[in-house]
Amino acid sequence: MKRVVVAFGTRPEATKMAPVIFALRQQPGIETIVLSTGQHKQQLEDGLKIFGIKPDIDLNVMTERQTLPGLMGKIVPLAADTLRDLNADYVLVHGDTLSSFAVALAAFFERIPVGHVEAGLRSFNMQEPFPEEANRRLTDVITDLDLPPTRGAANNILGEGKISPNLVVTGQTEVDAVLYASARGELPALPAGKRIVTITMHRRENLPHMAELAQALALVAVAHPDCQFVYPVHLNPAVREAVYPALQPLSNVSLLEPLEFGSMAALMRASTLIVTDSGGLQEGGATLGVPVVVLRNVTERPEGLAVGALKLAGTDPEVVFQIIHELLSSDVALAAMQHRPNPYGDGQAGKRCAEAVAWRLGLGTRPADWQ
Ligand code: UD1
Repeated sequence: MKRVVVAFGTRPEATKMAPVIFALRQQPGIETIVLSTGQHKQQLEDGLKIFGIKPDIDLNVMTERQTLPGLMGKIVPLAADTLRDLNADYVLVHGDTLSSFAVALAAFFERIPVGHVEAGLRSFNMQEPFPEEANRRLTDVITDLDLPPTRGAANNILGEGKISPNLVVTGQTEVDAVLYASARGELPALPAGKRIVTITMHRRENLPHMAELAQALALVAVAHPDCQFVYPVHLNPAVREAVYPALQPLSNVSLLEPLEFGSMAALMRASTLIVTDSGGLQEGGATLGVPVVVLRNVTERPEGLAVGALKLAGTDPEVVFQIIHELLSSDVALAAMQHRPNPYGDGQAGKRCAEAVAWRLGLGTRPADWQ
């Protein structure tokens, strides 16, 4: 029996790893251990509930207003000790959080091979998203196996001249996760008869101008009383301080506590429009055919822009107001972005990731690329 440790620390990694955990549990000869760094507490539980997954081990590192060096300094030695004690044969990390890079580094130091789910995404701007662009590049340098979701992400890795790449294009596991969860999740209670606009905003590089962005969103809400703006607010106190003053007074804005992923997926499915600075919601919207306005200057998910499912609004409050206002004022403009072909995956990504790990462990053959 080979022991595979699936490691993550935050909600988006957890939901995107759930389909991989399901598929690994179907692979003969593999025992799967789920390791949480505990970078997030409540939000991580929210991410896993609909999938019925609980971490087997929790390193429990989270503190309020934690810092990047503080997190790194805690996770690396704790993860290294844990992986050694577990006699792990293989470690899987996901994407671009500090937990992903820290656990990958710990495994590398312990000479345990690491696979990287959602490898190869690049914004080509080290400041946006910060520090995620660095995390994902640094992780890809030390991995045994790269599991890029798309051909474009695979080409990014190959273009960097990686030594001996082992690479399978898997499709995006968020697609699997959203299809699973949106069919089972419960929509939060909302006023009837209004179009729903889902908002999320939490990125570190957006924090300095988040209050102004919230102000722009408040103006949109005032201009569109036929819409209910639903914003499950991240638990980061800095995000809450920026967002509540502008948006709380408005009756057609619902500021909610973070939602468990089933409700979040159901909310996305019910939405006319999604406005977000997150990565997963770009893929989630494209999967459910719901247009997405991205509150960033660059995206590492360009496939959605190419098919017209996403619009990059940047972070200038006036431009952001204008773009959302125009979309909500024109059914034609909205329709042009709805139900585009999904450029991110086919719902089988988790299975390909599990088969690729089995391949690297000598338990199976290399799965075919998605693209
Ligand atoms: C982290 C990831 C980011 C990801 C995001 C998803 C890094 C560098 N950033 O950013 O890529 O998009 O998670 O949410 O890894 N908090 C709680 N309870 C929770 C979660 C967070 O109270 O369950 C609060 C804490 O005060 C914590 C703060 O949020 O200190 C910030 O959390 P942190 O993980 O440092 O950064 P995020 O902005 O959440």
